Amino acid sequence: MIPMSLAEIAAAVDGTLVGGDPATLVTGSVEFDSRKVGPGGLFVAFAGEKADGHDFAGPARAAGAVAVLGTRATEGPSVVVGDTLAAMGRLARAVVDRLPQLTIVGVTGSSGKTSTKDMMVGLLSQVGPTVGPPGSFNNELGLPHTVLKVDESTRFLVLEMGARGIGHITYLCEIAPPTISAVVNVGVAHIGEFGSVEAIATAKSEIVRALRPGGVAVLNADDERVRAMAEQTEATVVLAGEASDAIIRADQVHLDDRGRASYTLSTPDGRASVRLRVSGRHQVGNSLLAAAVARSAGMEPADVAAALSAHTPASTRRMDVFDRPDGVTVIDDSYNANPGSMAAALHALVAMGDGRRRLAVLGYMAELGEQEQEGHRQVGRVAAELGVDRLVVVGAQAAPIHDAAVAIPNWGGESVVVSDQDAAVAWLRESLQPGDVVLVKGSRYRTWTVADTLRGEEIPAVTP
Ligand SMILES: Nc1ncnc2c1ncn2[C@@H]1O[C@H](COP(=O)(O)OP(=O)(O)O)[C@@H](O)[C@H]1O
Ligand SMILES: [Mg+2]
Repeated sequence: MIPMSLAEIAAAVDGTLVGGDPATLVTGSVEFDSRKVGPGGLFVAFAGEKADGHDFAGPARAAGAVAVLGTRATEGPSVVVGDTLAAMGRLARAVVDRLPQLTIVGVTGSSGKTSTKDMMVGLLSQVGPTVGPPGSFNNELGLPHTVLKVDESTRFLVLEMGARGIGHITYLCEIAPPTISAVVNVGVAHIGEFGSVEAIATAKSEIVRALRPGGVAVLNADDERVRAMAEQTEATVVLAGEASDAIIRADQVHLDDRGRASYTLSTPDGRASVRLRVSGRHQVGNSLLAAAVARSAGMEPADVAAALSAHTPASTRRMDVFDRPDGVTVIDDSYNANPGSMAAALHALVAMGDGRRRLAVLGYMAELGEQEQEGHRQVGRVAAELGVDRLVVVGAQAAPIHDAAVAIPNWGGESVVVSDQDAAVAWLRESLQPGDVVLVKGSRYRTWTVADTLRGEEIPAVTP
């Protein structure tokens, strides 16, 4: 964080300084995990259900924390507030307000936020010092935590913004008002909480409505609900996608046998060849959004293309493709799932497995609410229509995937429902053959054991 005195911090968070010198400077990072605290840092204590952060004030101070921010005073300098989470947001906003040179990029969407954010961080790092969150730190805790990592040298701050309801993104944008906002897509992720796709579109559109004056809205030209957001902002709109009216476009898209796309990046400033090293057709759109943001930051097309072509997956369990010594190729996309990202991954499986046997181990998709049945059925239909050879559906809750797949006439594949991940592993142990391509995907942790076992090569593929 930029150096701030305890007096300045207390003022920023509307808190009371207890037992400390107001002039003491916080120069280190702001952490809510006492194990991450370093010299000169600020420890933020949350009173959670399982543990009370205030109990870790001692170790945090021993690790170098100069003060503790929490809802009660602990031994040593403390900044006491009514609401720790709100205080973190306020502190982050105070830091943003002190750094007028900072360009803030906000990214939202139903699927692909993290993948796109990682590409943006990769590109913008070529232009100047860039801060972005690790993995998916995209909520009211992870976002201010990331913001608090910036300092005077930071030029770009890339923030993933997640939403589980109306107003969530507005709140995140109040902490860090974006200069550039990018929207990947509007799908049905978390529809259980939202109620309808329209509500999801409204929630995502908050990111363009919150743009600073003179800001730029980067919109996915290939998603109708995202395009429609152009009407909701005064900002300059940049359409990116494969649609013919997109300003930042991909022409001549080809996929290699790993599902990695090559294309010609077309921009008003020129064209350049891109050869992505991340798998899946959907990465084309993600990379175009990143290219549009990089262009707004002044990057030339050739440099954008070179950086995109050098970009490798930065966050785990997302389209992580690896070959095992027995000739089996695994697509570990198990981080999380919703019907949109399932379809994207199934397309990648089919593109990648030309002439090979294609298997998909698919788990339950959480948080679909009333769309639960239909969401799972949709995935089963897509799998069968794409001609996936074997479906292994993990858990009874995911069974509608199986039901819908086997109902597709003339599907040449087979499907099985197994009780849990161990049973899926047992099935693979029996059935995996050299040359197979296996996609593993489900909502958070529901297929992680399967993916990890395949990575550990504990399942030998047997030649039939
Ligand atoms: N543009 C996209 N459209 C559909 N699915 C996508 C897209 N980009 C990534 N995915 C898939 O969505 C899942 C989540 O990706 P991630 O980048 O972590 O998104 P998020 O941060 O929005 O959850 C992964 O399985 C990934 O392969
Ligand atoms: Mg994410």
